[in-house]
Amino acid sequence: MQGKTVVVTGAFGTLGRAVAGLAAAKGAKVAMLDVAVRPDNPVRDAIALAVDLTKLDATTEAMRKVREATGRIDAVLNIAGGFVWQTVTDGDEAAWERMFALNLKTAYNTSRAALPHLIETSGAIVNVGANAALNAGAGMGAYAASKAGVHRLTESLAQEMKGRVRVNAVLPSIIDTAPNRADMPKADFSTWVKAEDLAKVMLFLASDDARDVTGVLLPVMGRV
Ligand SMILES: NC(=O)c1ccc[n+]([C@@H]2O[C@H](COP(=O)([O-])OP(=O)(O)OC[C@H]3O[C@@H](n4cnc5c(N)ncnc54)[C@H](O)[C@@H]3O)[C@@H](O)[C@H]2O)c1
Repeated sequence: MQGKTVVVTGAFGTLGRAVAGLAAAKGAKVAMLDVAVRPDNPVRDAIALAVDLTKLDATTEAMRKVREATGRIDAVLNIAGGFVWQTVTDGDEAAWERMFALNLKTAYNTSRAALPHLIETSGAIVNVGANAALNAGAGMGAYAASKAGVHRLTESLAQEMKGRVRVNAVLPSIIDTAPNRADMPKADFSTWVKAEDLAKVMLFLASDDARDVTGVLLPVMGRV
């Protein structure tokens, strides 16, 4: 990753921090985009930009700033997203719309805004889908439908960009995060996917080692 610029969205969340830290350790220049930039930045010398990625104009401007500051964008790791559990019967429309904005619109906006720069470098996009979106249980409709949209966007964009920009996605089961531990205190945390391990898979897909891989939806299950 020496000499490369890696953009990480949702970079101040659990997975985002792990990915940004590993990309920096591999020698990349890292740009951390998040709606909530926090003072405890885990990566020294990273560019940190506060941006609401549900807004295309703001996302385009953020990518322009990264390109201007580092001269290039080689990879975009689309991690910004969110989760809600709610049934259709008792759920609310606002939460449904929020899932599509946070998970699917951010992936579209980030890709759209970064593509002109990624075409210059024959770069890569790595999205985060969800294993739960392959076959959704009760209460998972809004979340799974929005992540299934990310899966289809990944496949379609990979076809559109074939030979120019690679587009893949990881489909995690359960990431070992503090909120998940609080929500499922009786679960066996050792079976969950560690953010650091998922980061390795994502950076492999972003790297030249995966130059022949595009359009892949890769389950990363841990031992769930
Ligand atoms: N945690 C899990 O078990 C799990 C499982 C499968 C998939 N995922 C997906 O993995 C990704 C990361 O999960 P996590 O647990 O690290 O989440 P997290 O909540 O810790 O991090 C998400 C980050 O995205 C940022 N964000 C939210 N909305 C944004 C917006 N509009 N613009 C810019 N940034 C925004 C948040 O501020 C936060 O820092 C998410 O896409 C999530 O849906 C998580």
